[in-house]
Amino acid sequence: MLPGVRISNPLHEGEVLVEPLNYIQQMLSRVVGLGAGKKAKTLIVACGHALKDSIQYVAYLKFHDVVEIIDVTGSDMSGKCALTVEPQFHAVLIAADSPAMMIQIGRLCANYQESGIPVVVIMGWPPPMDGRQFQREAASSGNLTIPGMFDVAASYIRGGKGGDVLEFGTFQGRSLQCAYHAFNSRQYAKDRRFIAFDSFAGIIGKKAGEGFFDGAYATSEISFRFANFLAEIPEDRVLVVNGPYADTLGVNAAKTRQLLEPLVAGLVHIDCDVEAPAKLALDFVTPYLRQGSLLLFDEYDLHHANNAFGERAALRAWLKENPQFDVELFRTYGSGARSFIVHKR
Ligand SMILES: C[S@@+](CC[C@H](N)C(=O)[O-])C[C@H]1O[C@@H](n2cnc3c(N)ncnc32)[C@H](O)[C@@H]1O
Repeated sequence: MLPGVRISNPLHEGEVLVEPLNYIQQMLSRVVGLGAGKKAKTLIVACGHALKDSIQYVAYLKFHDVVEIIDVTGSDMSGKCALTVEPQFHAVLIAADSPAMMIQIGRLCANYQESGIPVVVIMGWPPPMDGRQFQREAASSGNLTIPGMFDVAASYIRGGKGGDVLEFGTFQGRSLQCAYHAFNSRQYAKDRRFIAFDSFAGIIGKKAGEGFFDGAYATSEISFRFANFLAEIPEDRVLVVNGPYADTLGVNAAKTRQLLEPLVAGLVHIDCDVEAPAKLALDFVTPYLRQGSLLLFDEYDLHHANNAFGERAALRAWLKENPQFDVELFRTYGSGARSFIVHKR
């Protein structure tokens, strides 16, 4: 049985938002435009307020002939059911009200992921970010935002010897897109390599007490690349090391090192949420760190900032094993994220 109710005519007269084209509408238009070239439709899988918004966007943009929406409100999202792939769709967009719901809908779209069709989150998680949106968000005042942090980092890591940008935990590339636009908007930093480490199979290696479920944030390399394309990043600027860290940074680390040579870690962004993969990432980058490298941890204060869990536990364990390094707080940013300057003793 299909999990969801198909909305055959998303045009709800009288309920249509009339507002200037916002960023989500812009992304939706871009995806639909790509489908037009292939004579294919776009599928939106949605629930909650994001469903209502999707209906309104589709109506406002007059996309009812080229977009179909499936309402999955109340569907079984335990992972037992998944949507059957239909060949008329070239891309699937997820619209949900929260990251948790986004993850659940992602499970429903597993067959699309496996068939090689991009499945990209367009609401409920910040949508892919192009250069213009990056500038708008990076410039926001008050607390340092995630785009703002990458902007500060890019001006900190200046000069020809800045090193590469390594990200451990990319999901659909939102933070990597921030890093790319931050560096790429600076003449002196246009030559950075962006290296994405992810299995795209979601979180692997959590221990008891770290929450999540195995596979949370599962996506696919194709979806990641599609999101980067929407974010206007040339494909050849991002190098992907695809695989579980126990493999790419563990048993096969030597192979990965050879592939990436010569590697200097200018900025290391760790966003794999739980301790074990974060520790594997730190162990992997150890030989590439130098005085002044930046370490960013997206979920540093998760688990009520308990030192026994998550990315902060990984950093503590790594510092203990590597007395040749020390770290100094650089910035706090986002909600519970921190960056550190590496000092080499
Ligand atoms: C929270 S998401 C990253 C979010 C991303 N930085 C963004 O801005 O959207 C965590 C990512 O870490 C990856 N991950 C977690 N554990 C992993 C492991 N052991 N091996 C490889 N990838 C892993 C997951 O696949 C997922 O894409």
